[in-house]
Formats: sequence, structure tokens, C-alpha cells
Amino acid sequence: MGTASKKILVTGGVGYIGSHTCIELIASGYDIVVYDNLSNSNIEAIKRVEQITDKEIEFVQGDLLDETLLTQIFSQHQFFAVVHFAGLKAVGESVAQPLKYYKNNVAGTVNLLEVMQHHQVFNFVFSSSATVYGDPEQLPITETAPRSTTNPYGRTKLIIEYMLEDLCASDPRWQVVSLRYFNPVGAHDSGKIGEDPNGIPNNLMPYISQVAVGKLEKLRIFGNDYPTVDGTGVRDFIHVVDLAKGHISAIDYLVKNSTDKKESIGFFAVNLGTGSGTSVLQLVNAFTEATGQIVNYEFSPRRAGDVASCYAQVDLAEQNLNWQAHLDIYDMCKDTWHWQSQNPNGYEK
Ligand code: NAD
Ligand code: UD1
Repeated sequence: MGTASKKILVTGGVGYIGSHTCIELIASGYDIVVYDNLSNSNIEAIKRVEQITDKEIEFVQGDLLDETLLTQIFSQHQFFAVVHFAGLKAVGESVAQPLKYYKNNVAGTVNLLEVMQHHQVFNFVFSSSATVYGDPEQLPITETAPRSTTNPYGRTKLIIEYMLEDLCASDPRWQVVSLRYFNPVGAHDSGKIGEDPNGIPNNLMPYISQVAVGKLEKLRIFGNDYPTVDGTGVRDFIHVVDLAKGHISAIDYLVKNSTDKKESIGFFAVNLGTGSGTSVLQLVNAFTEATGQIVNYEFSPRRAGDVASCYAQVDLAEQNLNWQAHLDIYDMCKDTWHWQSQNPNGYEK
């Protein structure tokens, strides 16, 4: 079976990373069905993906917890794989409402996996996170580093990873690629789709771009006394389009492995990052250089739960998925600004 005949279910495909991945899936010849409850996204994103790709997308509005609807979708389509983005991701909210996170992310994923198993669909790409490494002991972070987390959101990712490992150990037909994203930023270079956070952003890049566009007064840099190049936190920022392409590489890897009839890959966790760290201050300066926009900021105390530095070892993705990031920090800033300046109020809910 060639790539063109393969159908992929994309849960959470209306969201930030999912919408960018839909574009790359279509560009690579995959057929897609998007399943999303729109709890943290706007259907306008899919309309824009349709404009960019010039292709109509099959969209089902539904919840991971709705087993009946999921069953119906799996009865209607013969999927090769599921790319599973759907989940809640706000760290602060997960501390305040942990059950909401365990129910949505963990119970939702159990539901999905049960329906997959029932319909004999065993290929799975999971949106994991560098948050599963907690406060890293060694840098760059390799996939074999010890796992731990500091908040309920992170624990849902870790629990799902453990669950997937158990599942693969129980039945070799399961093949799981768990993609541990570092810090996704940026937007599609058309400026038509991008990150559209609800309310005041928690994450750095959307905060910077909202200061630049005049929606927020100034950035507060959380801590300038970390043991880093300039005292501010260091992260491995990765362009969302590079990240999206990483999912195509993961599916291609599953396709190849299924076709070659090699041994099952079982549970395979892989970092998706650039491999290099950028400090908060370096990112602010790069944003100004790339866009000409001044970003007002002040230093403020460290944010609870933040680590000093976090960046990936990326050899495994290069060797096994034949994937590496190509876009640099200036591309990330330029494309974020392109999206933000064209859509100051996001998708206009
Ligand atoms: P997002 O919120 O933009 O997208 C998630 C999508 O899932 C949304 O469209 C939302 O409506 C949908 N969804 C949530 N719960 C659902 C449910 N029960 N049923 C159906 N749909 C549901 O988030 P994103 O930034 O695109 O992240 C995608 C995935 O990647 C998430 O699982 C997130 O935890 C993970 N991740 C994100 C980052 C990041 O920085 N953005 C980093 C690491 C991992
Ligand atoms: C955060 C989450 C992480 C999640 C990731 C992607 C926390 C503790 N961690 O990671 O679980 O997977 O987002 O959604 O929330 N910063 C500022 N000012 C701001 C915002 C951020 O200085 O207004 C700094 C932070 O202190 C940090 C860096 O910018 O040093 C990156 O922050 P952020 O974008 O929130 O990502 P992470 O904290 O790495």
C-alpha cells in the first residue's frame, strides 16, 4: 500500500500543532480525518488549512470521551494510524483542576486506544513533551534520561507514556512513536494559521508577540539569576513547521516498518527539538532583529516550577526518523510576527 492510500485520524487537528501538521500530511499525500471537540480551538483554523492546501478536510466535531462517536468514525474509515494531539495543556489550570486533566487527557486516551484496538488499528503517534524530563540532570537531554514531572499536566503525559509502553509490551502489533516536543513556536509562513492562546498567554513567544502588537504592555522575564549565559532561562525553541514535519517522518517510519514486516518497533520515544538552547533574553533580542519590533520587558522573580535550562539531544530523530529541524530562531520570530500582525486577535472567536 503506497502513502497515497493511507488514511490518518488526527485528534486535536484544529489546534496549534495539529493544524500545521494537517498541512504537511496533505502535502505528503496522506488522507486525513480531523477529530476535535473545539474546546481550545477555532474551526476557522481548518478553513484556513483548506485555503492553504486547496483541499477539503473531513472534520468531525467530537470528544475523546465519546466512545460511541469514536466507534462510528472507526467503522466508517480504515485508518492506518492515529496522530493524537488532543489534550489540555495549561500547566496552571492542571494544578487548579487536576481531575479535569486526568479525565480529558488520560481517560480520553484510554478510550481512543480501546476503540483503536477494537478496530485493529495499532499505529499511534503521540504528542508527548519535554516536560516528562522534569528538572534535567544532564544536558543535552537524551531519550534515556530519567523521567519525572512537576505538575498534573506533565503527569498526564508521563502516565500516557507508561500506558503506551505497557500496551506495546502486551501485544507486538502496537507500534507507538512518542514525540517529545521541546518548545514549539512560530507559525506557517503564509501567516494564515498560528498559535491563538485563550486570554493572556502563559508561554513566552505568544507573550512577546502580543507585547509587540500592542495588546500587552510589557513582558515580565521570570528570573535573571539562573546559571545560564545571561541569567535568563534557556529553552530549545522549535519552529512548528519543522515539528509538524517530524510527524510525517514518524508516520513514514511506521509505514516503512509495517511494509518491511520487520520486528515491531513497540514503544519508541524520540525528542523533537533543534538541539540548541536560546535564552529568554536572546529570544527577545532575536525577535527585534527579525521583525524590527521593540519588545518592552522587565525582570521579575522566577516562576515556580521552571527549570534553568532544557534542550534536546536530537541524534535519535536524525538516525531513525531521518528528520532534523531546519528553521532557525529568526524564522521562528519572523513567522510568529507575520501571523500575529495579520491576525492581532487570532481567529476572532
Ligand atoms: P492546542 O490546545 O492548540 O490543541 C489541542 C487540540 O485538542 C485543541 O484543538 C482542542 O480543542 C483539542 N482537544 C482537547 N481535548 C479534547 C478532547 N477531549 N476531545 C477532542 N479534542 C480535544 O494544543 P497544541 O499546542 O496544538 O498541542 C497539541 C498537543 O501537543 C497537546 O497534547 C499538548 O499537550 C502537546 N504539547 C504541546 C506543547 C506546546 O508547547 N504547544 C508542548 C509539548 C506537548
Ligand atoms: C511550559 C510548561 C511546559 C509545557 C510548555 C509548552 C511550565 C512550568 N511549563 O514550558 O510544561 O510543556 O510550556 O506548553 O509552565 N517566560 C518569561 N515570561 C513569560 C513567559 C515565559 O520569562 O511571560 C520564560 C519562562 O520562565 C521560561 C521560558 O520563558 O524560562 C519559556 O517559558 P514557556 O514558553 O512558558 O515554556 P516552558 O516553561 O519551557
